[in-house]
Amino acid sequence: MSSQPKPHILFHRDKIETTVNRLAAEIRKDYHGKHPILIGILKGSFVFMADLIRHLDFPLEVEFIRLSSYGRGRSTPGKIKVVQGLRSEVKGRDVLVIEDIVDTGLSIAFLFDYLQKKKPASLKLCALTDKPSRRQVPVTIDYLGFTVPDKFIVGYGIDWDEKFRYLPDICFVEVED
Ligand code: PRP
Repeated sequence: MSSQPKPHILFHRDKIETTVNRLAAEIRKDYHGKHPILIGILKGSFVFMADLIRHLDFPLEVEFIRLSSYGRGRSTPGKIKVVQGLRSEVKGRDVLVIEDIVDTGLSIAFLFDYLQKKKPASLKLCALTDKPSRRQVPVTIDYLGFTVPDKFIVGYGIDWDEKFRYLPDICFVEVED
């Protein structure tokens, strides 16, 4: 088996739980009674989404969308497209996108443009982590968990080369770009 980098904890699972609770309280306050659609971006958001919705005790819908970026490297964004779409009608609905990490911002910029064309009543973003040092396009994060440094973030659903999604803490690994 090839060796893999050692993950170092950035935010411990207890801190994540407190933060997810805090985000859920903010979302409950704003969305209670609105029957929103929460759209998780696959794959990285699945752990965060699962924990978050268990704190939201009001009617809502859960959807997932999968984007792909052909030819993408860490510093060379590719062309983004939807590879697994939505089943729900977005028109006239309050939509909250759930993202694990906002890096260059290109995925969110693409998705918001895609969703705006479907004419939702409102469209907001909840991101577990934000890496502003790498931003290429402006992004407004309405509900933010953590700001992270310019390192490879892994764990709690986030991967490096499809590894480490299972880690219960938010970690970083030191790897060559
Ligand atoms: C990651 C992450 C975000 C996106 C952020 O997804 O989950 O969706 O990149 O990057 P950006 O702000 O530079 O666009 P990735 O394409 O690695 O897929 P995954 O979620 O399936 O791991």
